[in-house]
Amino acid sequence: MALIPSDFIDDLLSRTDIVETIQQHLTLKKAGANFVACCPFHHEKTPSFNVSPSKQIYKCFGCGASGNIISFIMEYEHLTFPETIEQLAEQHGLSMPNKNQSSTTQPHVAPLYDTLEQCNRFYQLQLRRHSEASIAIEYLKQRGITGETAQRFQVGFAPRGWDNLLKFFKEDNHTVKRLLTTGMAIKNEKQRVYDRFRHRILFPIRNRTGKTIGFGGRAIGDEQPKYLNSPETPVFHKGRELYGMYEARKASALTEMVIVEGYMDVLSLAQHGITQVVATLGTAVTKEHVQLLFRYTSKLIFCFDGDAAGRKAAWRALEQSLAELHEGRSVRFMFLPEGEDPDSLVQAQGQEGFKQAQQQAQDIATFLFEHIQQHINTYAVDQQAELIQTALPFINQIPNAILQELLLEQLAQQAKLSRTQLQPWVKQAQPATLTQQKNNTNIALSPLRTTISILLQHPTLAATLQSNTSLHTWLQQSNLTGEAKLIKQIYERCLAYPDIHTSQLIERWRNHPGFDLVTQLAEQSFPSDAQLAQQLVDALHHHIQYMQTQSIETLLAKGRQQSLTPEEQHQLQALIRAQKQTKSKASETT
Ligand code: UTP
Ligand code: MN
Repeated sequence: MALIPSDFIDDLLSRTDIVETIQQHLTLKKAGANFVACCPFHHEKTPSFNVSPSKQIYKCFGCGASGNIISFIMEYEHLTFPETIEQLAEQHGLSMPNKNQSSTTQPHVAPLYDTLEQCNRFYQLQLRRHSEASIAIEYLKQRGITGETAQRFQVGFAPRGWDNLLKFFKEDNHTVKRLLTTGMAIKNEKQRVYDRFRHRILFPIRNRTGKTIGFGGRAIGDEQPKYLNSPETPVFHKGRELYGMYEARKASALTEMVIVEGYMDVLSLAQHGITQVVATLGTAVTKEHVQLLFRYTSKLIFCFDGDAAGRKAAWRALEQSLAELHEGRSVRFMFLPEGEDPDSLVQAQGQEGFKQAQQQAQDIATFLFEHIQQHINTYAVDQQAELIQTALPFINQIPNAILQELLLEQLAQQAKLSRTQLQPWVKQAQPATLTQQKNNTNIALSPLRTTISILLQHPTLAATLQSNTSLHTWLQQSNLTGEAKLIKQIYERCLAYPDIHTSQLIERWRNHPGFDLVTQLAEQSFPSDAQLAQQLVDALHHHIQYMQTQSIETLLAKGRQQSLTPEEQHQLQALIRAQKQTKSKASETT
């Protein structure tokens, strides 16, 4: 990941108010010192999503989601970390640091976006100006795409030749590197660099904020492959992006979304006035796709070919959708007649024809049971059991209780049982859903974790630790590991930045394995908020004593089996001395 200076992130966090920012998306109600809302990350009727203005963090007591405003934006808007930082910086009118430098190993993403945007403009210009552009324009016309639609989707043209793009960028080292990183250029084994897209119609893929992140290129003739796509790059992840999302949102408020497979399908439907359409990028539908789509609309219609491959892809889309089916949301499955795709259908039958076909889309129950009936083993001795056992794990994933019950009733019917007779099976299969829920209960609070938690929530108390010589000395050891090392690092950070607040503190651990623990501890509440300084000191003393006792016992145990080395004897004596000291210190303070 690109390195963004932590001071810059600290600065952004201190300028951003979490309440104000979250309020742009959710209705927050004041509740004591905090604000509450219904959680955007799981479905609920009573608010358990808490925002703390003092700590500048949020936590949902229902699903366990928690973090600072950066985490919120990443989760809520499905943005990557650098995208989030960039968006926040933009909001505050700050320019990203090192915007125009590129490092050798980890290019910052901003220059990559710049490069891709320049490529986009270059290719669009070729469609208008290049001497051979008429081939491309002719091709688009013949496929029924008007200039207006082409413009709306910023369609471009990559002419013949190996180095059009490279020449345009004048082949300087920095840009060549960026062209390689963004997949716009390729280097072969002989170290020769050449344009990825040649003699193709280009469809720029834009992210939700309109930035170009990659391209799809269609062959104009019979060249293979028919479609060539940008590879996965630091700014382009096929499993998270959908073609046409930006354009669809720009066209109208989204009431539903049709998900198709091809670039040309999106353009052709849009051309016929069906603008609420996106395409997957040559990959199967992912859970992230579904979550993203449900952020924008509650009705999804997956559109696939009617053949076996289409049905298989649709089933996969169903699997990815089940756990996202909260109340008010629906997915339906539209299967096209053999040999048709959305493009050919809408060309032949117009908007009306496509809408009619859309009306015929199967609801989740119909598709689910049809699919399961076709796939259960018809030779099974007990087909009834086979049906129930196959269906339940799917039905169980549905969070919308009413829809789930409806499906259970249908399952009972198909298995020729009453709903009551089905119940024991349902109970047995229950754990599958339970394990899927996010583990969100309060974590076990060891003394060490108590220390971390108090310090994260009250960074100024680091001064209290500093004034306690034995604790300060302990915290300065260089050989601490695990959570002890974590407290040392937090302590040092607090001392170095006396004004730091909770959300800035936890930010430092974002790419660290301890990040989840840190965010959870930042939200941990205590039985009592009184005398937190004392609680902090006591907890750390407690931990140190425990560790000393453990080490002493280990050494003693070893001493009973074999003789200790001189160093070990030394260590043992030092530990016993230290233990005495800690004990007396601890009793002084209590
Ligand atoms: P299709 O082969 O169904 O193409 O691929 P299409 O969209 O109907 O194309 P036209 O009408 O012939 O122009 C659907 C999608 O699968 C991916 C692309 O994303 C394409 O839009 N694909 C297909 C590839 O990535 N590579 C290929 O060679 C073919
Ligand atoms: Mn097609």
